[in-house]
Amino acid sequence: MKLFLDTANVDEIRQGAALGVIDGVTTNPSLVAKEKRSVEDVAMEICEIVDGPVSLEVVATEAGRMVEEGRHLSQIHPNIVVKLPMNREGLRALRVLSEEEVQVNVTLVFSAGQALLAAKNGAAMISPFVGRLDDIGNDGLKLVSDILMIYENYNFSTEILVASVRNPMHVVDAAKIGADIVTLPYKVLEQLLKHPLTDAGLERFLSDWRKQNEMVPN
Ligand code: G3P
Repeated sequence: MKLFLDTANVDEIRQGAALGVIDGVTTNPSLVAKEKRSVEDVAMEICEIVDGPVSLEVVATEAGRMVEEGRHLSQIHPNIVVKLPMNREGLRALRVLSEEEVQVNVTLVFSAGQALLAAKNGAAMISPFVGRLDDIGNDGLKLVSDILMIYENYNFSTEILVASVRNPMHVVDAAKIGADIVTLPYKVLEQLLKHPLTDAGLERFLSDWRKQNEMVPN
């Protein structure tokens, strides 16, 4: 399973990339706005840090404009994946861009029907938002398994990129289901890495080692 970082913050991306487990990056307009830099500038720096897909989302709302903006974003760097929203205009823009072989990540996916339409129009990836579904009392991970079943039934090559991840169990459950990619905030990457028993166990090993070695005369 591929792991992406869901952030536009280059310090977080650098720290995540240094661990060696990061395969790509996803951003959205909220995340880029927080950085107070141009999207081109942030994207170039991210592409220098991580050698993998980097999703950048269009902010246009009409299909023709989305296509123009998508073409522009895709030219920033060969690793850019254009993110389009899952609505009528986004679906129309997806058809045009996928026929031009632009890689598209269809975002804000909340139903299996939406995932089916995006795959039919050639999405390279789709992003079901599991956390936001859980927030309203739905089961985000159930959506991921429904989409996986549909894609396997028809051999769609569209990858399932699990987004809106809030905790390590979202990552583990997505891996058990067989999702292709999970994109996670830096905080969740740290939570995945840490375990209190690992820290306590290491502390005891090292203290036993020190005691023994202090007793041995030089
Ligand atoms: O990048 C899209 C997605 O991961 C947003 O997550 O936490 O704002 O629902 P969240």
